[in-house]
Amino acid sequence: MSIHIEATQGEIADFVLLPGDPLRAKHIAETLLTETVCYNNVRGMLGFTGFYNGKRVSVQGTGMGLPSHMIYATELINDYNVKTLIRIGTCGGLQENVKLRDVVLAISASTDSFSVARYFPGMTFAPTASFRLAQLAAANASIMNIPIKAGNILSSDLFYHFPEEGDAYDLWRRHGILAVEMEAAGLYLLASRLGVEALSILTVSDHLLSGEHVSAEERQYNFTNMTKLALSLA
Ligand code: HPA
Repeated sequence: MSIHIEATQGEIADFVLLPGDPLRAKHIAETLLTETVCYNNVRGMLGFTGFYNGKRVSVQGTGMGLPSHMIYATELINDYNVKTLIRIGTCGGLQENVKLRDVVLAISASTDSFSVARYFPGMTFAPTASFRLAQLAAANASIMNIPIKAGNILSSDLFYHFPEEGDAYDLWRRHGILAVEMEAAGLYLLASRLGVEALSILTVSDHLLSGEHVSAEERQYNFTNMTKLALSLA
């Protein structure tokens, strides 16, 4: 057991998918995995282990934001020996050519979060995905006929902004940032520091230029392309 995960040693696979929403973890386990066992219910942050195409995989909810995500990623790595962590989640599109429902590979994750900055006072660390996983994901996406956008994203501490901030994303947009989400930079920092491999695969659920967004149901359940691409890396 760790503080936030009640699994016993060996109950969690060394390859783990990390959706923010624990109910998405449950849905993935129920629809895509076989011989599924639920190993965590602490705080309702559900985690499951099962098999996908004969490969043993786990799927663990993490909650939203770097601090919550980093608690689960740290415990999975340090206490359960997880070696490969794939975040799957939604993001807000920031560029014209990044469309609703597009799949985005986060090669790197810029951030406004102190959860990364605190370790590098006055300097800048570049949180980066595993090249092996990114390359494999790009290759598998092409085989699976899933178009991808790959590049730099923003992991932000904030979902909501006060009006006096103006367009909070303009600076990032002008620097080519494809999309905004709230976890990847923390995951990449931990993977670098703790010597494991990580990648974030995102689906555009809303667009911050056009204001379009997918429905809540689709947000929760219908991101199958992203999930199958993530599972193909096992
Ligand atoms: N901001 C942050 N995270 C997100 C967004 C957003 O607009 N959309 C989906 N995840």
